[in-house]
Amino acid sequence: MSFMGQLRDELAEFKKDGVYKRLNYVDSPQGPRVRMEGRGEVVILSSNNYLGLCSIPEVVRAGKDALDRWGAGTASVRFICGTFSVHRELETALARFVGCESALTYVSCWNANEGLCPTVLSEPDVVISDQLNHASIIDSIRLAKTIAKCQTAVYKHSDMADLEDKLRAAGKGGARRKLIFTDGIFSMEGDIAKLPDLAELARKYDAVLAVDDSHATGVLGKAGRGTAEHYGMLGQIDVITSTLGKALAGAAGGFTAGPGALTDYLTQRSRPQLFSNALPPTVAASALAAVQYVEAHPQLVTRLHQNARYFREQLLSIGFKPLAGETPIVPVILGETAKAIHMSELLLTEGVFVTGFGYPVVPQGHARVRCQLSAAHTRDDLDFALRAFKKVGSKLGLI
Ligand SMILES: Cc1ncc(COP(=O)(O)O)c(C=O)c1O
Repeated sequence: MSFMGQLRDELAEFKKDGVYKRLNYVDSPQGPRVRMEGRGEVVILSSNNYLGLCSIPEVVRAGKDALDRWGAGTASVRFICGTFSVHRELETALARFVGCESALTYVSCWNANEGLCPTVLSEPDVVISDQLNHASIIDSIRLAKTIAKCQTAVYKHSDMADLEDKLRAAGKGGARRKLIFTDGIFSMEGDIAKLPDLAELARKYDAVLAVDDSHATGVLGKAGRGTAEHYGMLGQIDVITSTLGKALAGAAGGFTAGPGALTDYLTQRSRPQLFSNALPPTVAASALAAVQYVEAHPQLVTRLHQNARYFREQLLSIGFKPLAGETPIVPVILGETAKAIHMSELLLTEGVFVTGFGYPVVPQGHARVRCQLSAAHTRDDLDFALRAFKKVGSKLGLI
């Protein structure tokens, strides 16, 4: 059979199994309610627009001004002629915001993660990763194992005893560098990494701690400065990676923050830095405006926390059993992938957009609809969504 024939057969199989993803086209700015082609106005409970900054005038204006001042793009990687003054301004602001000495931007957090492990690890080193880490961390580690020949280990999700076993074994194996890598907020579960315990183990075993704070930047802590702020540990985390594609204006981009020597080293050696164009100035300027906006309006973060608490409590009160937690990620586990996709489709017919996630994004049998709250949601938006959940939940016999 031809290559295309094989692909078509596999796609037909996805459809038969009810796991085929249909794309929905949005035709308005991202926000608590959007215009979706063929659906009209829907309440969005699936975006990473945690603070509602995607479309605020300050962020949009910064992008437009940047387009006028610097044009559409950099037309170069950073080290040739693609470093613009707005990159310096943004990186200074990001470092300050997450409590690190320095920051270096990438075109995505995927790139930031991919640029970390293979660059700082080599054969005598080991990276130890939480079992539920994001795919970009997993692929960064796979890449490091393949091209840098480092050792790898995985510890059970947030299981500090298991992590300690792995650290001890790495010590006995004579590992030179030990890197512990964790999500700050785990994207599919919505739970928070045990940062104080992780930092203590890192100290005890002379390991470096890297935290991917993509879902926590702008979200956790009183001022939205991330998992470190949540635990009162600002300035104590060795390496933070994060995205500009979620709370910080939601466009695109990512960064790695840490000591100046780390970002300098990554500038010299990290392959996505060396071989891929720099962050477009428009996007950098919008992200910079977003950081400045959060710094000036910490009440947005409070509002996000209130919305998350309200939605979680109301969901429980109508009979759903979301995974316990305190973040704006509220997953409702349904089991089979097809069931999650079906529930998501029914919710959409009720005017609420919530994505159903199944295998391979989550393990087999743990499919879910994942709700994400935003500071931009009004009480009306949330009550509208809750009424839809109640109707669909009853129809499916879930509540
Ligand atoms: C934990 C985590 N890391 C990294 C990423 C990738 O971020 P980006 O969209 O900037 O590549 C995501 C996005 O879903 C994420 O959830």
